[in-house]
Amino acid sequence: MRKHPFRLWRYRVLIPVPRDAEIISLNEGGTPLIRLKRIEKLVGVKSIYAKFEGANPTGSFKDRGMTVAVTMAKYLGFRNVICASTGNTASSMAAYAARGGLHAIIVLPEGKVARGKIAQSILHGATIIYVKGGFDSALKTVLAAYEAGLAYPLNSINPWRIEGQKTVAYEIVDEIGVPDWIIVPVGNAGNITAIWKGLKELRKFDLIDRLPRLAGVQASGASPLVEAFRENKEELKPVENPETIASAIRIGNPVNWRRALRAVRESNGVLLSVSDEEILAAQRKLARLEGIGVEPASAVTLAGFLRLVEEKIIERDDKVVFILTGHALKDPDIASSHNIRSFSANNRIDALKIIASLEGTSTFTN
Ligand code: F0G
Repeated sequence: MRKHPFRLWRYRVLIPVPRDAEIISLNEGGTPLIRLKRIEKLVGVKSIYAKFEGANPTGSFKDRGMTVAVTMAKYLGFRNVICASTGNTASSMAAYAARGGLHAIIVLPEGKVARGKIAQSILHGATIIYVKGGFDSALKTVLAAYEAGLAYPLNSINPWRIEGQKTVAYEIVDEIGVPDWIIVPVGNAGNITAIWKGLKELRKFDLIDRLPRLAGVQASGASPLVEAFRENKEELKPVENPETIASAIRIGNPVNWRRALRAVRESNGVLLSVSDEEILAAQRKLARLEGIGVEPASAVTLAGFLRLVEEKIIERDDKVVFILTGHALKDPDIASSHNIRSFSANNRIDALKIIASLEGTSTFTN
């Protein structure tokens, strides 16, 4: 493929923006694909990779969709862009809107968004409207604002978001070919939809000769898609009051549910849910065994993977990729809630005594 100075935009030929559009970019994409050697050894699966989307400019995969969607918002002449968010879409939109000279209006579920994400949205100068209820209620507000002609919505109902997010699939295939499994956290279900779209395009253009299986992972307190999948249903029963420590995917009524279900079924994949305890343990493993700091919503991939290995759905020889969607610093409160040993020293001698007593011990506890 032709190289382009922007990392994601080197795939421009597959992103249908008009030729004369001014690209609003922060050089997103081109994120590290990291081999997880210590987890491979621990679990006994041959090749496991993490696509670390936390390395994007605002610290989450949302930048991929946002560069395309804000480019198009500007091209179409909108001045106000709006989104509902559990936090990452908001901080990404705030940054790209700033770069494009647009006004970002962000609708957040009050008291339910992690601190790092709010900080970013404030820093980039967005207007924030806090609403009661969860993400699902915030999204209804956004749709009403759109219908009233007040602003252009940049949630994943916006097809341009999907066009950008599909590029993560291109990057994986470019680097390691077609894996056997791609494991994706699922909230509003835009990302898994986008990844499948990207893969199917590669197949359609004969750039690959087979497709991976998709595993979508939800948190057990917010898993309406998993229920629909298990019961083989064509309808979604929304979860009224979704609850999980993984606030990014605390969503009870995912808008892209239909396409996501189809994607998982077509790929001969699975949808499963994991508990908050499994999520925190997985976050710790990624951080302490591999040095990769992710927010809880991303850690569902490893938690789900461990289940699938246990159930022998994923096998020893499989090549597996986790989509690690967001950086650990997005949610500093959760990151700093993990157990470590810490000491208070009264003076330097005291500190040295403590350090000397540590020899030979390890901080990895779980
Ligand atoms: N991981 C992270 C870190 C997220 O922020 C999100 C969604 C997901 C996974 C799930 O992706 O919605 O495409 O299935 N965050 C949205 C937001 C809802 O508002 O930032 P999805």
